[in-house]
Amino acid sequence: MRHFLAVDDLSADELRWVLDLSARPAAAAPAALEGSGVALVFEKASNRTRNSMEMAVRQLGGHPVYIRPEEVGMDVRETAEDIVRTLACYHTMIAARVYRHGLLERMAACEVAPVVNLLSDDAHPCQALADLLTISQCIGLDRTERVAFVGDANNVWRSLAIGCALAGIPSTLAVPSGYGPSSETLDRLGALGGECTVTDDPAAAVVGADAVCTDVWTSMGQEDEQAERLAAFGAYQVTPELMSQAADGAIFLHCLPAHRGEEVAAEVIDGPASRVWQQAENRMHAARGLLAFLAGQAAAQGEAS
Ligand code: CP
Ligand code: NVA
Repeated sequence: MRHFLAVDDLSADELRWVLDLSARPAAAAPAALEGSGVALVFEKASNRTRNSMEMAVRQLGGHPVYIRPEEVGMDVRETAEDIVRTLACYHTMIAARVYRHGLLERMAACEVAPVVNLLSDDAHPCQALADLLTISQCIGLDRTERVAFVGDANNVWRSLAIGCALAGIPSTLAVPSGYGPSSETLDRLGALGGECTVTDDPAAAVVGADAVCTDVWTSMGQEDEQAERLAAFGAYQVTPELMSQAADGAIFLHCLPAHRGEEVAAEVIDGPASRVWQQAENRMHAARGLLAFLAGQAAAQGEAS
């Protein structure tokens, strides 16, 4: 059974395949989920992820069911395993946004339905698919010399870096000391053949970059670290001056929600280099491509067994 908990749950070829499916118009989408339910379980707030997934499921002929954070009581009202086994009685796929990545691994280990990660503390792979789709549309995957990420080595960065490694795009991360990636993550990128340079100098990171990306400095679940994070990341704002040091025509990406005046200056996110609304729309197209791919894999497995 295929799950999508991290971008490298796909091979490099499969990533290109999913991006190709994502680039096809919604009107030409296969009825890959005809008659099927998809459970969307959220432990945290969401705007883009919930709406893009719901619409993608509909575009594939399926029926999405949104499940509020407090509704099923993950590991409180009943165990995550019992919740997943129950949801699989009604749904052909289960997608979840959780605090702890290990919870998704437990859900997937039940092997009752494909599990899709809608964001965990470790990864945001659906976001990375949309980021790469946007880069492919604006620049071309094979024409992208470098992707720079300025900010926290968080879930969004990790998934984008893995996606870049799989797509053969060199990446750079500018991050303050103490907030950088673990050696395990760097080893993982290396094992994928990825070239990822880590620096504490934002200007050095963006030189030669065709895309400059960032994310919030304080992720959901880290609110009690907000004051110290604001101080640590103060010099890591993506400003017009920083953008001017990137490659000619470089684009700006942000997964959103954004905090203008913190990780990005308003002149950048609301300026001509910004592609954040195309990127937000691409969440839906990328979700449609991913779900069509997973449904195809499940159907092929069903035929083979
Ligand atoms: N980028 C993203 O995942 O947005 P939401 O948190 O609104 O879903
Ligand atoms: N890194 C952020 C991304 C939100 C879409 C978080 O985890 O809160």
